[in-house]
Amino acid sequence: MKKNILIAGASGGIGKEFTKLYCDDPNVEKVIALSRKMNNIDNPKIQSIEVDYSREETFDNLNDILQLESISTIIIATGILHTDQIKPEKSIAGVDLVTLQKVFQVNVFGPTLLVKKLLPLIKKSKGIKIVFLSARVGSITDNSLGGWHSYRSSKSALNMMISNLSIELQRIDKAHVVIGVHPGTVQSQLSEPFLKNVKHSIFSPKESVGLLSKVISDIDQKDSGKCFDFSGKIIAP
Ligand SMILES: NC(=O)c1ccc[n+]([C@@H]2O[C@H](COP(=O)([O-])OP(=O)(O)OC[C@H]3O[C@@H](n4cnc5c(N)ncnc54)[C@H](OP(=O)(O)O)[C@@H]3O)[C@@H](O)[C@H]2O)c1
Repeated sequence: MKKNILIAGASGGIGKEFTKLYCDDPNVEKVIALSRKMNNIDNPKIQSIEVDYSREETFDNLNDILQLESISTIIIATGILHTDQIKPEKSIAGVDLVTLQKVFQVNVFGPTLLVKKLLPLIKKSKGIKIVFLSARVGSITDNSLGGWHSYRSSKSALNMMISNLSIELQRIDKAHVVIGVHPGTVQSQLSEPFLKNVKHSIFSPKESVGLLSKVISDIDQKDSGKCFDFSGKIIAP
């Protein structure tokens, strides 16, 4: 049977590349592309749906796709690090409520509510893979630099949500898999202001998605709840 795939953040650097990848896959029938603006990839497989995590009523735009027979993969590639109003904090002195709320809203609350909304479709499906774009900086074990308080802690919270969802969804179907992935440092609107200070390799979205798609195809139920980097190595929580 041909697969249906859902990608949240289909307008972003990484999300758009995943959208293209699945459109080119002959085993994929439909690519449901969620974004705040309509998608500009022209492909008959794409169904574009507007979902904005800051406007909860837009989750109702997903009601129709709950009628699908099944879904095989959900990629959640939404996230913010900075906006016109928000900069990642260098020190606790720079933390404020508006930034914390906004970063947690997009990086944790939105993805969680999205899975809740898709639950009827997840329950009908077998061996679904749900992949959240997390980040290495969300690892408490790996934290040697500090800073970026809102972003770092939102990704740690997302990792706990991944672990929790993994437990709950495997009670529905043992073959369901929920993981987080770190895409590497990737050229995108999110990373652009910080790339000049990066000493390690920087991936294009296409390179990163090429590596991540191998990680996604290699994982199975024993890997559920964990977080992997682009090379398939587990990132300690
Ligand atoms: N790039 C990197 O180096 C890097 C490294 C580690 C982890 N990551 C993670 O990878 C994921 C994707 O990052 P990216 O580099 O592709 O960033 P990006 O190009 O900025 O894409 C971010 C996506 O999130 C969407 N988004 C932002 N606010 C939203 C909201 N309120 N409601 C719904 N969608 C919203 C954006 O939609 P609009 O187009 O409408 O703004 C866009 O589709 C993020 O979770 C990020 O934390 C990236």
